[in-house]
Amino acid sequence: MCGIVGFTGKAQVAPILLDGLAKLEYRGYDSAGIAVEDAAGKIEIVKAKGRLRVLSEMTDGGTTVPGTCGIGHTRWATHGEPSVVNAHPHYSRDHKIAVVHNGIIENYQELKDRLAARGYEFVSQTDTEVVAQMVDYYYCGESAGNALDAITRMMMHVRGSYALGILFADQPGVVYAVRKDSPLIVGRAEQGNLIASDVPALLKYTRTVYYIDNQEIVRMTPDEIEFYNIDKERIEKTPSTIEWDAEAAEKGGYEHFMMKEIHEQPAAVRDTLSPRIKDGRIELSEISLDEETIRSVRRLYIIGCGSAYHVGVAARYVFESLARLPVEVDVASEFRYRNPVLEENSLAIIISQSGETADSLAALRECHARGVPTLGIVNVVGSSIAREADAVLYTWAGPEIAVATTKAYSTQLAAIYLLATEFGRVRGTLDEEQYARLVEELEALPGKIEKTLSDKERIQWFASKYAAAKDAFFIGRGLDYAVALEGSLKFKEISYIHSEAFAAGEMKHGPISLVEKGTLVVGVLTQPDLYEKTISNMVEAKSRGAFLMGLTTYGNYNIEDTAGFTVYVPRTDPHFATSLSVIPLQLLAYYVSCAKGLDVDKPRNLAKSVTVE
Ligand code: F6R
Repeated sequence: MCGIVGFTGKAQVAPILLDGLAKLEYRGYDSAGIAVEDAAGKIEIVKAKGRLRVLSEMTDGGTTVPGTCGIGHTRWATHGEPSVVNAHPHYSRDHKIAVVHNGIIENYQELKDRLAARGYEFVSQTDTEVVAQMVDYYYCGESAGNALDAITRMMMHVRGSYALGILFADQPGVVYAVRKDSPLIVGRAEQGNLIASDVPALLKYTRTVYYIDNQEIVRMTPDEIEFYNIDKERIEKTPSTIEWDAEAAEKGGYEHFMMKEIHEQPAAVRDTLSPRIKDGRIELSEISLDEETIRSVRRLYIIGCGSAYHVGVAARYVFESLARLPVEVDVASEFRYRNPVLEENSLAIIISQSGETADSLAALRECHARGVPTLGIVNVVGSSIAREADAVLYTWAGPEIAVATTKAYSTQLAAIYLLATEFGRVRGTLDEEQYARLVEELEALPGKIEKTLSDKERIQWFASKYAAAKDAFFIGRGLDYAVALEGSLKFKEISYIHSEAFAAGEMKHGPISLVEKGTLVVGVLTQPDLYEKTISNMVEAKSRGAFLMGLTTYGNYNIEDTAGFTVYVPRTDPHFATSLSVIPLQLLAYYVSCAKGLDVDKPRNLAKSVTVE
């Protein structure tokens, strides 16, 4: 994880670095630091443990660190505890070089030992310091002051993932950057040139960006950006234009990004669906899957992590029902190491908001290595998964800043509905009438999400009563089980209350022994065929003392005979009900977190983009 930024130009650099880091704080927030080079080439590093605001206060918003060229970092600790000494940037010996790093150097211990044998001393426990010292070793030795040469030599020795920003004290005004398997973009702005881990850090300054590929090196001065490959040959790159609205990366009057993003769901789902529905027909030519290919697919593998995996669990029910296609759903970190047996004529769908999740990217590569074509469902344009997948279906959720995903999850579901409905039509498992009705339902979904959002106050009241809960259980069957998984994850990650999700039928095979007086059990019941069954499981929990919350569709009012508190969502086709039932669950988690006074947008121990395995 971690976020890196860098700038060289005409303006004072420290405030620009702090501003960029604020936009990247979602990537890690246990410490932060900046390195600024003054005109004489002296590199000054300032770092602080804790949130970025500590660093900001220490430097008076950056004004106490003069200079126009620098790099910055916000950290999510991997090697070495969160502390000032382990915070980035890291100096090489004699402070000649400064480095910020996002990623993990796997063989750092071996390299550290070798450098130590040559007289290098290390002050931190990080893997990153090894990079700084190793570049120094070559720069002052075999590379004879050639930075590009020193960097490429370092790259040949390190194993792992990295996006690096590097300053050399004897090259004032120059920032070097390089990446392998961690995100890095370069922006060309009027005031100067920038690097960053993600788009929101650049939006204030520019929309013209270059995506850096693996093992490419960037050399930036205030006026020029040069790109090199690992053989030190100049390469040309074409800039892309970011379409995101800068406003979209701000809170826009909401107290938290999460609440803003919850409210952006109707628009995000509409933006994802509507360009792909024309005159009542689904139009997916952008992913170049022709009808013959769709007919020939024998099996789908759907892979993701966390909430993206939960979209996969929902997708299995939707694809199997609408397109009668066998689906295997896997957590990416398991898929990549379990030596899976992959069928011929299959398709792998990799779901990822960031497009940078290390395990999901590795799973995609595993599929390619085994000859299985891949389709990415990705939110961040130009991210690694988007670029490496054979085809991409973008979710148009815009920037998602809160660590707990909401609108990206909803748009991933929307993308799945489009695919499954289209697969059903092409494979002949849906007739024209069913198809037309489903497309109509899809077009109505954003409006129904909007309506679901209007019932917030009751959920807020209920959340305030349960903010002191010790445990919570979320149960459901079929698609309601898929959303129970997501509801439970949302709940635990931002409220820190222990919570689990179970397929309702599994309760009596063990978990019910956890139920005691007052335990909160949330039952989701949007699937008409399974309604009575889940009610029975809720009654079983209630008779052991549970307090029941029911989440069902308007009309199912007899739930009130069983549940102590009920939330209703509009009716839709049951295949799409997850898009509505997830909304009250997101709100519940949000309000419990607020009632406990927690940091909703940046829950402890987590980061938005998990670029380490
Ligand atoms: C939970 C959450 C995470 C992500 C997971 C995958 O609220 O946001 O579980 O879903 O880390 O991230 P992406 O989608 O970026 O691959």
